[in-house]
Amino acid sequence: MLTQPLIFLDNQYHELNNDGEDVIQGLTQTPKSLPPKYFYDERGSQLFEQICQLPEYYPTRTEAWILSQYADEIAQMTGSCELVELGSGSSTKTRLLLDSYQKIADDCRYLPIDISGGILKTSVLQLQQQYPDFSIQGLLGTYEQALAHLESNSLRYSLRPASGLSRMIFFLGSSMGNFTPQESDLFLSQIAHALKPGDYFLLGIDLQKPKEILEAAYNDSQGVTAAFNLNMLSHLNWRFQGNFELNFFTHQAIYNQADAQIEMYLHCQENHWVSLDILNLKVSFQAGESILTEISRKFDLAIIQKQLAAQGLKTLKTWTDPQQWFGLILCQAQ
Ligand code: AVJ
Repeated sequence: MLTQPLIFLDNQYHELNNDGEDVIQGLTQTPKSLPPKYFYDERGSQLFEQICQLPEYYPTRTEAWILSQYADEIAQMTGSCELVELGSGSSTKTRLLLDSYQKIADDCRYLPIDISGGILKTSVLQLQQQYPDFSIQGLLGTYEQALAHLESNSLRYSLRPASGLSRMIFFLGSSMGNFTPQESDLFLSQIAHALKPGDYFLLGIDLQKPKEILEAAYNDSQGVTAAFNLNMLSHLNWRFQGNFELNFFTHQAIYNQADAQIEMYLHCQENHWVSLDILNLKVSFQAGESILTEISRKFDLAIIQKQLAAQGLKTLKTWTDPQQWFGLILCQAQ
């Protein structure tokens, strides 16, 4: 089926004219922080794809294993669906699901959503060739834009077949780990609003495990995670006309056991000033201070099911790997 590969979720959305309010907010508070979405310019998305292949970074491989074992069962349970993926990236793991849905239906739709236009367009064009019977269209934008769009009647009824095909939103790779508990409650309530009763939500989450395994996964020996972390500053430099000096910062990732989260920082080595001209911002940095660039929470399957239930998302089934390192939860909107 021939469709335009990408839809821009916000007419205003253009990488060069984003206002960057969140950058100003994060860099003018103490301690400093930056939103993880700024990892994902074109180079950042490529580096993330490399991270997924690292020997130390077990989440991608483990989740792919679970999907390879149970994607058929998931497709059987939900039946034919409109498949909506948040943060699809290269859609590599998604193929496991698409293969299973292809076996049970011939009228599937797949809507991958991502903030990185290059990788999204490339993967949509490939998937359109490899799954010619599917209707596939990429949506370019942030999670907020995506969820607002999914909630709105326009997309809901214009993109959904009149037959009333169920929708399944899936959110893989433990990307929910980037949200604080409060942010994830808000996020899950928005998910619930983008679903009607009977629709599905498939969530992939990284589970709690020994500190050594976790810290190794975020401090790989090839330095890819360090490059990924530092690339956020290059992204801010080109996007907001900044002059971050990457040599003044080093990568740090530690597991905060009390909060069950990996915390990634850019640790500053020199006293200096940084300006971001497009944002009219000049910020002073002290040697020894850090910018928090990401939290990656590690979950407990039982607790997360309660959080989902509180938003009207009832767990139908969960799956894990033999080591119980990663979990997949299929829920249904009530
Ligand atoms: C895409 C947010 C799930 O938290 O493991 C990988 C991002 N950061 N290595 C994660 C990431 C450093 C990843 N998520």
